[in-house]
Amino acid sequence: MNSSLLKKRMPWLILLLLCVLGLTIWIVCATDTKHLGRKKILITGGAGFIGSHVAQALLERGNSVVIVDNFCPTYDPAWKRRNIVSIQALDKEKLCTLYEADILDMDKMSAIVAQEQPDVVCHLAGYADLRASIEKPEDHLSVNTLGTLNMLQLTRKFGIENFVFASSSSVYGNNTQVPFKEADDTDRPTSPYAASKKAGELLTYTYHHLFGLRCACLRFFTVYGPRGTPNMAAFKFIDAIHNEKSLTRYDGQGSLHRDFAYVGDIVDGIVRSIDGLMQKNIGFEVINLGYGSTVSLDDFVATIEQVVGKEAQQVCLPAPRTEMAVTYADISKAYMLLGYKPKTTLVEGLKAMYEWYINEYCPTRKTEDL
Ligand SMILES: NC(=O)c1ccc[n+]([C@@H]2O[C@H](COP(=O)([O-])OP(=O)(O)OC[C@H]3O[C@@H](n4cnc5c(N)ncnc54)[C@H](O)[C@@H]3O)[C@@H](O)[C@H]2O)c1
Repeated sequence: MNSSLLKKRMPWLILLLLCVLGLTIWIVCATDTKHLGRKKILITGGAGFIGSHVAQALLERGNSVVIVDNFCPTYDPAWKRRNIVSIQALDKEKLCTLYEADILDMDKMSAIVAQEQPDVVCHLAGYADLRASIEKPEDHLSVNTLGTLNMLQLTRKFGIENFVFASSSSVYGNNTQVPFKEADDTDRPTSPYAASKKAGELLTYTYHHLFGLRCACLRFFTVYGPRGTPNMAAFKFIDAIHNEKSLTRYDGQGSLHRDFAYVGDIVDGIVRSIDGLMQKNIGFEVINLGYGSTVSLDDFVATIEQVVGKEAQQVCLPAPRTEMAVTYADISKAYMLLGYKPKTTLVEGLKAMYEWYINEYCPTRKTEDL
């Protein structure tokens, strides 16, 4: 081709090149499962502590999010509504849809899932109070176990392929061999709550086996951080120490140890699991999500004292039989499978929680609560 002919055809060649480039980009975006911006995640319990942070993280990276929550009075529903307001304030692109619904209401849930057709169900809804589960075992069993079965049935009915289940470190019961590994015996749960979570894991496996559902059962260790619930030790202790009231700890001689995990790290693990499922890297897996170390209750209280800048007044009561002596996560599987590496130290996490407590929780507090 001589140079004048080349010059003449140059605009067409450039146009052709641009078209090829555009087409390549379009094909990569349409087929690359790593490009998760258009994927839709349904989060049950999305108005709660962990769920609202997951919703926020997914929205921030461009996913569509469907929140289902019934705002039940496990604690003041106003807290959950405030979580939703925080999420909606960030949702500039209007990618979040909220449904006020009970996962036990199959007709309503069917209609929601049919309408939304999510790519992943991230099932976090649950009753999460271990001690209360002794008094109200039927609530825990119905929401945590039957509710999980309902969500699994819906994945089957609507051909959803990916499922995250919020399990718990409580399934390890009174195992003494630490750190806890996923393959350890979990046949001796010490509370109806723990039994309900173990049952959820088993049902989830059954749906993987029967219908090929890809599932990540995530065993969360004691999660704390901003928006923490009023029944968690971190919240109760911060609240008592800040207000110079006495706090009650249920460990008698100070022997209990917990693996405290910051909510930001747990959310990172959940989002990585969602991606692992969508990339088909996970078939069925049980995965510990904790910090990967254990802290005595004495050191936990001392760290809160340091963060709040006041001394605790403490009442020590014997630990009820539901309390596990120690929790301590082996997180090597989470690292290998998901690249999960928690990075928030206890003091950093408690500082963030206390900041939230002062700036966001205290101004909303009713005077009768003081
Ligand atoms: N926080 C922890 O330390 C921890 C540890 C292990 C496991 N988990 C599990 O993680 C999940 C989330 O816990 P969280 O700490 O965010 O608690 P949370 O109570 O703040 O969140 C649970 C949410 O589920 C909703 N919900 C309850 N029953 C429902 C129903 N029938 N239908 C629809 N929504 C319903 C609640 O309204 C709430 O918003 C729970 O399943 C819990 O068991 C939590």
